Amino acid sequence: MARRKKVYEGKAKILYEGPEPGTLVQYFKDDATAFNAEKRATVEGKGVLNNRLSEFFMTGLNAVGVPTHFIRRLNMREQLIRAVEIIPLEVVVRNVAAGSISKRLGIAEGTPLPRPIVEFYYKDDALGDPMVAEEHIIAFGWASQQDLDDMISLALRVNDFLSGLMLGVGIKLVDFKIEIGRIWENEYMRLIIADEISPDSCRLWDMETGQKLDKDVFRRDLGNLADAYTEVARRLGVMPQREPGITKPTLIN
Ligand code: TMP
Ligand code: ASP
Repeated sequence: MARRKKVYEGKAKILYEGPEPGTLVQYFKDDATAFNAEKRATVEGKGVLNNRLSEFFMTGLNAVGVPTHFIRRLNMREQLIRAVEIIPLEVVVRNVAAGSISKRLGIAEGTPLPRPIVEFYYKDDALGDPMVAEEHIIAFGWASQQDLDDMISLALRVNDFLSGLMLGVGIKLVDFKIEIGRIWENEYMRLIIADEISPDSCRLWDMETGQKLDKDVFRRDLGNLADAYTEVARRLGVMPQREPGITKPTLIN
C-alpha cells in the first residue's frame, strides 16, 4: 500500500493527506516543546491525550454551533479534519493574568482580568511569534476587518464554552490559544476553529489548590506532564485506553 503523503510537520503534530478532497489526517506526536522549541522532550502518551482531549473540546464546540475543523477521531493518535487555509495568527484569550501578559505589563500571575482580553500573535517561528495589533493584521492583509470581528467573536464563544466546561470539573481556564482557518462553501468563505485545543495550548489551574494542569508543568519543570493531562482527561470523563503496542498502561487511571 502506498504511504500517504505528508502535507506538513509541526512541533507537536503532523498533517497527512486525507481520504477525500478537502480533508486531512492530523497525527498527534508525543513531542513537547516550549520557548519556540528551545526546550524539547518526548512525553510518552501526550499525543494520545491531546488527540482525545482536542476531540472532546471540538465535538462540544461543534454541538453548540461553534464551527471547527474536527470531523472524527480515527485512532489513538489521529483524527480526520477539514482542510482549511490557516490564518497566520495565534488568537489568545486571557481571563486571568499569567505568562507573557504578567511579564510584559507587570501584573502578578493569578490576578483576575476585568474582562476577557483577546490578543493576536503573528505566526512566525523565526520572529518568535510577535504580538501584533489589529492595525498590522489589516495593513499586511493577514485578515480583513470582518475576519477580525468574526475571529474575536469565535474566540469569545470558545472562551465561554471552555470556561464553563472547566468550571464544572474544578478547573480555572486562565488563558488559551486557538488558530482559525478559512473554508469555502460554494462562493462563501467561513472561518472555523482549526489546529488543536488541548492542555498544550491552555493554562488550566485547579480551583482549590492552584495546581497547574497544562504545559507550564513542562515549561517550568513542575512535574510529570502526562500525569497533569491525564488528570484533566479524568475529570472531564475522557478516558484514553491503552495504546496498542505499549505494554505499560500509561493512561489508565
Ligand atoms: P503566553 O502567556 O505565553 O502568551 O501564552 C498564552 C496562552 O497561549 C497560554 O495558554 C499558552 C498558549 N500558547 C500556545 O499555545 N502556543 C505558544 O506558542 C504560546 C507562546 C502560547
Ligand atoms: N509552542 C511553542 C514552542 O514550541 C511555545 C510554547 O508553547 O511555549 O516552542
